[in-house]
Order: sequence, then C-alpha cells, then structure tokens
Amino acid sequence: MSATIAAAPPGAARSSSTVLEIRGLVKEYAAGKPVLKGVDIAVPAEGITAVIGPSGTGKSTLIRCINRLVEPTRGSIRLHGEELTGLRGRGLRLARRRIGMVFQEYNLVERLTVMENVLSGRLGYVPLWRAWLRKYPEEDIQRAFSLLDAVGLPDHATRRADALSGGQRQRVGIARALMQRPEILLADEPTSSLDPRTAVEVLELLTSLTAAEGVPVIINIHNVDLAKRYARRIIGMSGGSVIFDGPPEQLEAHHLRAIYGGEDWL
Ligand SMILES: Nc1ncnc2c1ncn2[C@@H]1O[C@H](COP(=O)(O)OP(=O)(O)O)[C@@H](O)[C@H]1O
Ligand SMILES: [Mg+2]
Repeated sequence: MSATIAAAPPGAARSSSTVLEIRGLVKEYAAGKPVLKGVDIAVPAEGITAVIGPSGTGKSTLIRCINRLVEPTRGSIRLHGEELTGLRGRGLRLARRRIGMVFQEYNLVERLTVMENVLSGRLGYVPLWRAWLRKYPEEDIQRAFSLLDAVGLPDHATRRADALSGGQRQRVGIARALMQRPEILLADEPTSSLDPRTAVEVLELLTSLTAAEGVPVIINIHNVDLAKRYARRIIGMSGGSVIFDGPPEQLEAHHLRAIYGGEDWL
C-alpha cells in the first residue's frame, strides 16, 4: 500500500492526552478587577491535577468557571475539544453531565438515604418523572451498589445521609460523582472539612477509584504535602495567575515562596 497517510491535524496529538484546555481565562466579578488574570492550563487526561495557592487566589473561581457555576468574563475552556463557554440551556446541561463535582461540604441531601444520594448522580440522564418515582433503571442500581462497595460503604445503602460521619459523607459524594460517569471530576477542597487521617483515607480512595474508572481529576487543595503525594501534576496559583505548572518533584521551596509569599512559614 502506498496510500499517503494524512498528517494529523494541529492539536490532534495533544487532544489525546489533554481532557480540558483552558486558554486566556479571565474572570472579573467587578468590572476591571480580574480575579483570574488570563489562566492557561492543559489538564492531562489521566491522574490528579492539584491546584494549590493561598486563600482568595481564585482556585474555586477557576473550578466554578469550568462547570459554569460562574460565568467566565473572557477566554476559552474546551472539554475534549468542545467549547464550554457560551453554552446555555440544553447544551449547558449536557456539558455539565460530563463534569462530576465533589464539594468541601459534601452537598448531600441529608434526609435521603445513601443509595438515593448516589443514584442522584444519574439525574442528568434519567427522565425527571422516573427520578421522582424513584424508578431508576436496574443497571443504575447495580452500579450504585458496586460504587458503594468500592468506597467502603457496602452496608450503608439504606442509612440516611445525616447519620454518617464526614469521611463517610465524602465517600458518598465521590460515589455520586462517579455514578454520573463523568469525563472529568472537579473537587474543590474535598478534604478540608475532614481530620488529617480521614483526609488521607479519602484522598487515597479518590486517587485509586478515579484511576480505576479512568477519570481525570482537578482538585483544589490547601495541603501542599498531600498535593505532592497524590497529584501527578501541580498548578501553583498566586494572585489569579498560574506561576507553577509541572510535576510534584519539580515544585521547590522557591516556587512555594512565590506562590504563598514570605519564607518564615516554610
Ligand atoms: N461570587 C463572588 N462575587 C464577588 N467576588 C467573589 C465571588 N467569589 C469569589 N470572589 C472573590 O474572588 C477572589 C477569589 O476567590 P476564590 O475563587 O474563592 O479563591 P480561593 O478558592 O483560591 O480561595 C476572592 O477575592 C473572593 O473574595
Ligand atoms: Mg476556594
């Protein structure tokens, strides 16, 4: 065969290893006062990408711009090449279905059971009348049971969410997010409300389960040591700009000084 193989289109090689491409992202809550000042990030399609930086530097704003809880002012956010900024209505709902969320305060429905909370991850897929009648397809129920198993809560399906500890709630939060079969998972300080030991357990679980499911994760995290331990990639932000972007082993004291300022705390 002598057929010429067409050269791959520009960006094709990158798109196979990048799940989310953020370019020139600016967010101004008040005109002329940018909180994000032109952020460029290519999020790899595998593993944990940790965003670190001091409080108020725009980490939550970055995550909220991705799932459009916050409207970006300028710039581009592409999920598997599809532009997310500017989507509305049905297009936005379909895009959100592809993005899982894990929250610092878990955001479970407290008076519902663990099982109902996990199944609610399917709400973007199941017709509303089915959800109201709690008629989820059998395969969804089977998957919910296997996720509860995977997060270490096999016997908790019928317990009410408000009867769980913080660590257990966050495990349910992770199961619910994966129930959605997301293309990417966003986690905003998912362990900040937990004691140090539980935080490590939850991060272990988040890392192993998302790796097994093949779901890349962006995690905002205060704790630099945990970020270095679990992330494959670290994004260091300061004052609304990315000032470090690389693997944990390249993150050095001078980077941390630039990100967090000062030295006495190091
Ligand atoms: N909804 C909002 N309206 C106005 N200002 C906001 C809003 N959300 C966040 N901010 C401001 O944007 C800046 C970045 O906040 P945030 O993204 O929460 O940072 P981080 O998550 O890194 O602590 C802060 O100065 C904060 O006060
Ligand atoms: Mg925050």
